[in-house]
Amino acid sequence: MDNQVLEHAKNHFAQVVSDQLSRVERMKQAEEPLDFTSIQPIIIGFCWGDGIGPIISQETQRVLEYLLEKEIAGGKMKFKTIEGLTIENRVKHLKAIPDDVLAELKTCHVILKAPTTTPEKGGPYPNIESANVAMRRELDLFANVRPVKVPKEGIDWIFFRENTEGAYILGSRGIQVTEDLAIDFTATTKQGSERIIRMAFDYAAKNNINRLTVVTKANVVKTTDGLFLETAERISKEYPQVKWDGWYIDIMTAKLVDPKRRTQFRVLVLPNLYGDILTDEAAEFQGGVGTAGSANIGRRYSMFEAIHGSAPRMIDEGRGQYADPCSLIRAASMMLRHIGFADKADRLEMALDICSQYEKKWVITGRDNGATGRQFCDYLLETMKDPDLEKRWKSFTG
Ligand code: IPM
Ligand code: MG
Repeated sequence: MDNQVLEHAKNHFAQVVSDQLSRVERMKQAEEPLDFTSIQPIIIGFCWGDGIGPIISQETQRVLEYLLEKEIAGGKMKFKTIEGLTIENRVKHLKAIPDDVLAELKTCHVILKAPTTTPEKGGPYPNIESANVAMRRELDLFANVRPVKVPKEGIDWIFFRENTEGAYILGSRGIQVTEDLAIDFTATTKQGSERIIRMAFDYAAKNNINRLTVVTKANVVKTTDGLFLETAERISKEYPQVKWDGWYIDIMTAKLVDPKRRTQFRVLVLPNLYGDILTDEAAEFQGGVGTAGSANIGRRYSMFEAIHGSAPRMIDEGRGQYADPCSLIRAASMMLRHIGFADKADRLEMALDICSQYEKKWVITGRDNGATGRQFCDYLLETMKDPDLEKRWKSFTG
């Protein structure tokens, strides 16, 4: 055996372990959460992203400017466009998030982010880390909250995906030991598991939901998923009013397709990679990943984004204007709720339901046989301006 190879692998692993132990120490010193009622102006950093990003951002900005017209005029709220989170600039600096961009992000109270291109091995760009993953890590956005609702079918799920650990945290730090052997790492911590699991239980308890599902593959991935499941068992004791159970990711994936069983799930909490996969599947029932928004919540920072990528194929094929902006608009709505504008978020979500699930005067298909994002947003704005919006919404939802 080649000693040099082993030595290199040992050093690499030692560095990985040491970095993760430092991260645990940082987690132990959690920052104080922001109190949005006392911040003026609340600064919303807006990253327009790559591919279809700028197109759907423009529509989202129109919607937000309408909803926040008074607040913006009165100096309560300010948009800050964050330039430089583009693939071109990231490649230029060979960094997932260039330093000056990260510094700018940190001057904001909340961040709204359109999809950014994630380079891959063998692709046209250098294989730098995903900007999403880097932002989640750098700003310690530990909870990825993804609601999916299809009222007609009784589907009302909210996923709490762990966002800073698992296969993702070390996804760019695997080691090609020899030509024949590649090893990746996954890491789970007690602190990281506790905070996401507690958030999910808290949500269930506060919303009187008596059902929480913990998804792992702890029967096979025994150490890391085992710790996640064990932690859930321990935290659950603080919430005797919430009934919980553990499911394995494979059968969970199957049960989401079962119309009889799937409506029984309500709040789900799961490690990073399973959460990534399961939430794409879940969003498909609602009309696809283009319809789902997601909140990345940390103690100090939060970032709201679409759950899909930058769709370079749509741009290459000249279909960018047919991209569905609903995911980013739903993310914007989650942001409004987070910073204390639940009434505006309610209005926006009612209008989104009417336009994309019930009335459907304009339907987006992603192609020229459907509406453009602009047409859809004109329709959405018109719907939001309807003084009888709530009545109209209730006429569909009963
Ligand atoms: C998501 C996306 C990202 C992820 C990609 C773009 C890195 O799929 O937000 O779910 O895997 O987390
Ligand atoms: Mg995903």
